[in-house]
Amino acid sequence: MNTLDTIKTRRTIKKFKPQEIDQNSLLLWLEAAAMAPNHRMTEPWEIYFIGDETREKLNHKTNFGNAPIVLMILSKHGATSVETEENAMATACFIQNFNLAAWAEGVGTFWSSIGITPKNRGILQVPDDYNIIGVLGVGYPDVIPEPKPRTPIKNRISNLP
Ligand SMILES: Cc1cc2nc3c(=O)[nH]c(=O)nc-3n(C[C@H](O)[C@H](O)[C@H](O)COP(=O)(O)O)c2cc1C
Repeated sequence: MNTLDTIKTRRTIKKFKPQEIDQNSLLLWLEAAAMAPNHRMTEPWEIYFIGDETREKLNHKTNFGNAPIVLMILSKHGATSVETEENAMATACFIQNFNLAAWAEGVGTFWSSIGITPKNRGILQVPDDYNIIGVLGVGYPDVIPEPKPRTPIKNRISNLP
């Protein structure tokens, strides 16, 4: 798949096959993800593999579509609110890099904001100086949804003098 096809065919996957994912591939995608743009090279991301016990406690309504792997991606706070925001943006780029690297090899992801509530932050044992940028179900898609239509990009383009 070329880059444009990878980007345009990616979907949020909500139903996964039980088939395991090769650990080396996961590491390769995470390594590629870390090539995200990152102001001051803070490398703010931390990756956690979420085990069954924690997953049960989270009690997600679809159990992340039965994904064989669930990852949590954290972003460390910076010295200032601007750096914290920039770190979060870099970590969102990290996640999208990961999502696209996996998708190019037939593996889908479900980016969930389940970590947003204080209760789930507690279950996930997130230190105070980290933001949760995403909790990701990862696996081979069982169902690939139709694309969700986007507004024509021309409607979003303006010019400044
Ligand atoms: C920061 C972020 C948080 C998201 N959280 C959720 C979520 O909690 N639940 C959910 O169903 N989808 C979540 N999504 C996925 C979006 O719903 C999905 O990207 C959108 O519907 C467009 O579908 P597509 O990714 O297949 O193009 C999230 C996406 C992002 C970027």
